[in-house]
Amino acid sequence: MKLLVTGGCGFVGTQLVKSLLEQNHEVTVFDIQWFGNFLDEHPNLTIFKGDICNVDEIPMEGINVVFHLANVANDPCADLDSKLNWEVNALATKFLVEKAIDRGVQQFIFASSGSVYGVKDEPEVTEELSLIPISDYNKTKMISERVLLSYSDQIAVQILRPATVCGFSPRMRLDLSVNILTMLALRDGKITVFGGNQTRPNIHIKDMVRSYHHFLARPELTGIYNVGFENISIMDIAMLVQKYVDAEIVVTPSNDPRSYRLSSKKLLGTGFKPLSSVENAIVELKELWEKGTLKDGDEFYNIRRMKELDI
Ligand SMILES: NC(=O)c1ccc[n+]([C@@H]2O[C@H](COP(=O)([O-])OP(=O)(O)OC[C@H]3O[C@@H](n4cnc5c(N)ncnc54)[C@H](O)[C@@H]3O)[C@@H](O)[C@H]2O)c1
Repeated sequence: MKLLVTGGCGFVGTQLVKSLLEQNHEVTVFDIQWFGNFLDEHPNLTIFKGDICNVDEIPMEGINVVFHLANVANDPCADLDSKLNWEVNALATKFLVEKAIDRGVQQFIFASSGSVYGVKDEPEVTEELSLIPISDYNKTKMISERVLLSYSDQIAVQILRPATVCGFSPRMRLDLSVNILTMLALRDGKITVFGGNQTRPNIHIKDMVRSYHHFLARPELTGIYNVGFENISIMDIAMLVQKYVDAEIVVTPSNDPRSYRLSSKKLLGTGFKPLSSVENAIVELKELWEKGTLKDGDEFYNIRRMKELDI
């Protein structure tokens, strides 16, 4: 199939594109490359460097399926520039889906976020619960979802609400909970935990990518799906890291005591099974650090890189 991946040079996008190429798809990537491009050349891969806000520049001819991952991808980055956040994360989604419909694209798969629910006391946060997004980033995801759903009669809209992703990608992100705690242990022998009782959902990057394949192969699975499997506290993650890396845990007070969980019962009901865990990610990151493949650097933290770029 001919696939377009916006944000294909990102942390998840890089691993997604590699796996789509392995399955012999023809892939077009459209990405502004704020964090570089770590994709190897491939005969079935075409990469465009550009801004999704310029929808006219996005190649869509002959595309069967759009994966829309290009976004300002976390709370602090979204807070850097409110106009940019709303234009990239919400407005561009509208123009993108309209162009996709106009060009006869059949499927539109969107990376929303499990954080759209806000803080929830319910142990089972299912797709039916109300959305009370807290940050501007969450709000743009919610609005994008609503915009996309309004086109459901014209294109198969598949909205994924991922948990926090963990594990390795050639375009690495170290600003995600499991990855950062593992890096702190490996680099400093000390894991600083803010509070620690906050429970958050997680997903291994391999399962994240597998979930995109799951939806690609099943266009009939339209609507909204949570994609996250391990609801564990930050302290539990730190203790899991400690199981593999010799490091002390230092707890400091947190100004963010928010907990939220995700239930992916709906996704599991479609036959999807996660195959990797937070623990797998920690072990893999440790091995890659010891081999010298995993490194630390400002470019692996979105907010630092965006400030460097003066965005
Ligand atoms: N990583 C996670 O834990 C997680 C969790 C939930 C949802 N998500 C969502 O999944 C998607 C991918 O996340 P990620 O971790 O790979 O983030 P990332 O920051 O590594 O990747 C985002 C990519 O989008 C590109 N991009 C940003 N603005 C753009 C623009 N205006 N035009 C073109 N390209 C642009 C960036 O250059 C980057 O390569 C995002 O939409 C994110 O919000 C991620």
